[in-house]
Amino acid sequence: MKLSAVKGDVTEIETAALVVNLYQGMKRPGGATGAVDAALDGQISELISEGEITGKPGEVTIVHTQGRIPARRVVVVGLGKKTECNLETLRRATGNVTQRLLRHHITRFHTVLHGGGDLEATGVSTRDLAQAIAEATILAGYRYDRYKTVEPEEEPGEPMEREKERLDGFTVVESDGRKLGAIRSGLERGVRIADAVNWTRDIGNGPPNEITPAVLAERARALAEELGLECDVLARKDLEKLGMGGILGVGQGSVNEPRLIVLRYRGGRKSARPTAIVGKAITFDTGGISIKPSANMEEMKFDKMGGCAALGIMRAVALLKLKINLIAVIPSAENMPGASAYRPGDILRSYSGKTIEIINTDAEGRLVLADALAWACQQEPKEVIDLATLTGACVVALGHYASGVFGDDRMIERLKQIGETTGDRAWPLPVYDEYGDDMKSEVADIKNSGGRWGGASTAAAFLKFFVKQGTAWAHLDIAGTAWTTKTLPYHPVGATGAGVRLVTEYLAGR
Ligand code: BES
Ligand code: MN
Ligand code: ZN
Repeated sequence: MKLSAVKGDVTEIETAALVVNLYQGMKRPGGATGAVDAALDGQISELISEGEITGKPGEVTIVHTQGRIPARRVVVVGLGKKTECNLETLRRATGNVTQRLLRHHITRFHTVLHGGGDLEATGVSTRDLAQAIAEATILAGYRYDRYKTVEPEEEPGEPMEREKERLDGFTVVESDGRKLGAIRSGLERGVRIADAVNWTRDIGNGPPNEITPAVLAERARALAEELGLECDVLARKDLEKLGMGGILGVGQGSVNEPRLIVLRYRGGRKSARPTAIVGKAITFDTGGISIKPSANMEEMKFDKMGGCAALGIMRAVALLKLKINLIAVIPSAENMPGASAYRPGDILRSYSGKTIEIINTDAEGRLVLADALAWACQQEPKEVIDLATLTGACVVALGHYASGVFGDDRMIERLKQIGETTGDRAWPLPVYDEYGDDMKSEVADIKNSGGRWGGASTAAAFLKFFVKQGTAWAHLDIAGTAWTTKTLPYHPVGATGAGVRLVTEYLAGR
């Protein structure tokens, strides 16, 4: 990806497409858009007065310049109302532009720094603006086409090379040369973070016959090698020795044996306690003996996204060289029915020693997390954050536009706030003691299902039972956000990488 910034005048730039913007309700465009409009003899203001350009969010208008300026096309993107403009509206506008241009096989373009001046006046830095635009462009330009062998056809009989759909990069055009340093540094930060998110998506989109727990562990190992992280992988025998009955129980019905993946990043002082990131990685969730209905079951390949996000966070933190210590703990298994599968009624002994009565084999994520959380707490972490596609109930509560966040009040507050600025949102839900009461078992220390009501919170209460008292802990339920079945401005259909940008910025101290 080639991102750059140049000092220049938009009316003199030679490019396939020059992206400028318009706020909703603006009759006469100002700034760069105004300059382009003047050079085009008022063509943009005419389109505005005709009502063909409104500046509404999501709007992308392509105007051909026919040689009046060196740019072949001017692209006007709607930013919405000026008073409502923020980093997220810019990301979405940028994402819409990118997806539209790629559809026209325009893979390189020039753009102004949208929101520059106006957002800067509200305290947003030039660097953050540039980062947002870089992030959104690279995220929107993502394609998962590894398994596509037949070239797409535009017109019948006219094959099109897939390369033409792949984003090459963009250049920011800025008239104020003093801003170039901040712009370049923001672009660079955006590139690293978006790279980590797209890496997460690539593994996440991998089909369940490719990405088994063992293969996920190999990907983690390759990541560690690339970035100089430490990596330990525990296989079945190791898990048996340690008594990790949760991971083993869930994994025992599959020929693809479970793993516990541990990665360590040391960027901080030797004595600084690490943050532990725990991620659920069920490579496929059939529900097991409590089998799921077959409609949409293919989506359960995304039940590994918590673990993929944990790996992506490690990648982002290492690429950004943050001065912190970090451990990723990723329990991975495949939840299958079969002759050797665990059953409702079984009692599992978890790594903590606490026993769990199985009510429903489809409540498997909390079982693998029980072992991983207890193990993570033994590493004396400063704090623990887990990510998991844990409950359908969380999707019922929040839909697809925010993850649920539970646990430590101060962590929740910051995660919610960073969620607003990154657009990788998290919304607080409670873990009252009463939810824990619903999880009490007649025969074991706890049971794995509390029934229908408050399912996201009873699941969180279950996890809390395995977190050491006094360890600061936050749980992100990403069941509704980890993948999308409809195209969003900067999320193509498939794995989104939810949680990666959120937790990375949290760790960066934003
Ligand atoms: N992986 C699912 C949760 C899920 C469901 C994620 C739909 C995304 C979309 C999880 O393992 C699960 O099956 N949870 C059950 C728990 C229940 C049996 C207590 C659920 O949410 O129905
Ligand atoms: Mn399940
Ligand atoms: Zn699951």
